Amino acid sequence: MKIKQIVAALTLMIAFIVSSCQYDVVVEPEIPPIDPEVPISFKDEIAPMFSDANCLGCHSGNVNPNLSPATAYNAIVPNLVDTANPEESSIYFVPAPGGNHPQKYSAAQAALLKGWIEQGAKNN
Ligand code: HEC
Repeated sequence: MKIKQIVAALTLMIAFIVSSCQYDVVVEPEIPPIDPEVPISFKDEIAPMFSDANCLGCHSGNVNPNLSPATAYNAIVPNLVDTANPEESSIYFVPAPGGNHPQKYSAAQAALLKGWIEQGAKNN
């Protein structure tokens, strides 16, 4: 009887230890698909994104490119975009997720920016 109780207690402990080692699978946030037919607006979506991504702490005058809303477009087009090879655009790959820039885009922000470059990097 005693042994059965010990075995039961041990089984419970092991079950507890094993289950406490499980962790929830981190679900990557869904990246909204970019519809190439829907124009992405520089003024309404891309310029505010630089602020949302906390770029302006450095890039609002002191460090080029100046990504403040009033100057961002001319600071990045044409020098920092390559509409023929959007992924080769410095404005896209320098702060890309997983890179080593002090501040990086989220995956969704990077996708939006790439979509805008693919659409011709228009000042719209
Ligand atoms: C902590 C300060 C800091 C923050 C925040 C920061 N940057 Fe930078 N960035 C720099 C510095 C310094 C340089 C120049 C040296 C270098 O390339 O690392 C630079 C360079 C760049 C360049 C290259 C410019 C060129 O002429 O090739 C791009 C593009 C850029 N940053 C975009 C961004 C974007 C977009 C964000 C926001 C997601 C951002 N940076 C946030 C400091 C910062």
